[in-house]
Amino acid sequence: MARQFVKMLLTVIGSDSGDALLVLTELAANAVRHTYSGLPGGHIRVRVVRLNAGLIRVEVLDDGSQSLPTLRDASLSDACGRGLRLVEELASEWGWRHFGGQRCAVWALMNASALHGQKGENGDV
Ligand SMILES: Nc1ncnc2c1ncn2[C@@H]1O[C@H](COP(=O)(O)OP(=O)(O)OP(=O)(O)O)[C@@H](O)[C@H]1O
Ligand SMILES: [Mg+2]
Repeated sequence: MARQFVKMLLTVIGSDSGDALLVLTELAANAVRHTYSGLPGGHIRVRVVRLNAGLIRVEVLDDGSQSLPTLRDASLSDACGRGLRLVEELASEWGWRHFGGQRCAVWALMNASALHGQKGENGDV
């Protein structure tokens, strides 16, 4: 996923949160790596919604898989298993829900950081 695109989405809703960008990057990477979204013809959708002046919800919607987003206890020698720990650390809350059958939406509530201007209420794509 183009980080510049997501950065642009955040800007549209008036947030310059680097943490939100990082969380979205982790969630999108998971969608590509762990779900059918990573197969040919797969899709991911990214949604960024400003809930109020200080809070945004970022969300990545994938095509589903055989697994579920699960916090791992990565040891020092493990190369993987840290992405959702990072999300847990940076988000005030996070979770997932199924939609449209097997598809999965993984979301995180984030501090909007420096808000400026009164632009649109949300930056859905
Ligand atoms: N969107 C998703 N759908 C289904 N399973 C998921 C999804 N996201 C994560 N998972 C599961 O949760 C586990 C933990 O994800 P996490 O991002 O913490 O680690 P990782 O992706 O395996 O490694 P890393 O992010 O450190 O490169 C994954 O190994 C995978 O089994
Ligand atoms: Mg990951």
